[in-house]
Amino acid sequence: RTGTDVASVLLAWYDRHARDLPWRTPPGHSPPDPDRAWPYRVWLSEVMLQQTTVAAVKPYFANFIRRWPTVEALAAAPEEEILAAWAGLGYYSRARNVVKCARAVAGRGGFPDTEAGLRALPGVGEYTAAAIAAIAFGQRAVVVDANVERVVARLFAVEEGLPAARKAIRAATDAITPQARAGDFAQAMMDLGSTICTARQPKCLLCPLSPDCAGQRTGDPARFPIKAPK
Ligand code: ADE
Repeated sequence: RTGTDVASVLLAWYDRHARDLPWRTPPGHSPPDPDRAWPYRVWLSEVMLQQTTVAAVKPYFANFIRRWPTVEALAAAPEEEILAAWAGLGYYSRARNVVKCARAVAGRGGFPDTEAGLRALPGVGEYTAAAIAAIAFGQRAVVVDANVERVVARLFAVEEGLPAARKAIRAATDAITPQARAGDFAQAMMDLGSTICTARQPKCLLCPLSPDCAGQRTGDPARFPIKAPK
């Protein structure tokens, strides 16, 4: 199958199997949303999910949204209250950047809607900017996290080792990212990576992409991504 077909197969799978997560846009979400709530929820969840598991993030995300339903509300809160609510999630520098970022966004009247604009915000790196642009704003952005990296390394049986392979993996992800529904596509790749194309013992029998997967054809898909010898 071609890159486009890989995307449509994956999106059809996502329509049936997407995990129900509180920061996910509803099916058929077409940005920009009138109340501009999604960029805030997507940003907050993606920052919380850096180095923290989905299960650990859920209660913190719910608490933040209950206490501070908008980025303006968060921006107006005292820093020490936000840091206290973050306690337990770890990585305090993230929390301090959350405060800075909320104030910057409120000050400019909302989230920027381009990857470059998002990148300029405190604590927003390449991954987070692409994720917000695609998921909240419906733009075609190339979203690569560790899950996506593993799925793509297997799909194309990338023999080059990490970290050198990152460039090739990014180019391959770009080639299969669809014009429409890039945000759903990114989240589908993440769901596939965390539930089926897992680091150890991938469940290839359940995978919608196994007919397309070069790694599966080698007989040992778990060998990918290859780690460069130190
Ligand atoms: N991990 C980080 N962001 C995620 C998302 N939007 N969906 C699922 N897993 C994620």
